[in-house]
Amino acid sequence: MSEIAPAAKPAFSQEALKKVETIYNRYPADKRQSALLPVLDLAQREFGGWLSRASMDYVAELMGLAPIRVYEVATFYTMYNLKPVGKHHVQVCTNISCWLCGSDGIGEAVKQRLEIEYGQTTEDGNFTLSEVECLGACVNAPMFQINDDYYENLTPETAVKIIDELANKA
Ligand code: FES
Repeated sequence: MSEIAPAAKPAFSQEALKKVETIYNRYPADKRQSALLPVLDLAQREFGGWLSRASMDYVAELMGLAPIRVYEVATFYTMYNLKPVGKHHVQVCTNISCWLCGSDGIGEAVKQRLEIEYGQTTEDGNFTLSEVECLGACVNAPMFQINDDYYENLTPETAVKIIDELANKA
């Protein structure tokens, strides 16, 4: 009878472990838990753009923290993805400044263009669409973030143009 091999446990590469050391060095030795946010961000980048339970457990073990401390942080901030996301993660800010400046129209235009709703990924895996809280770019509302880039002062037309350009590059 053949056995199904258990999934490999996530683990940082040597290069990533060096980055962890660099992150640790930003904090006093007795305040290492303060490094959790950047270490989780690194884990997300290393482990396919999202944080599985196994990835969070790995970070907890690495940092000597109770797993619950890691889950609390990872589930609080929208910058952490708790399920797989597409190649381009479109995060539309719908908080007060963006809302007053027309984020409803931005969200609708992107939904129509991608034929998905918030929280969904296109069938080809190219785009995930999320609704997020204030991303700190209110002065140039409305805006969305795609992966690490901010796109500001959007209109429905410019929003769709940006999506089109990314889709054509894919
Ligand atoms: S309300 Fe959208 S960036 Fe602040």
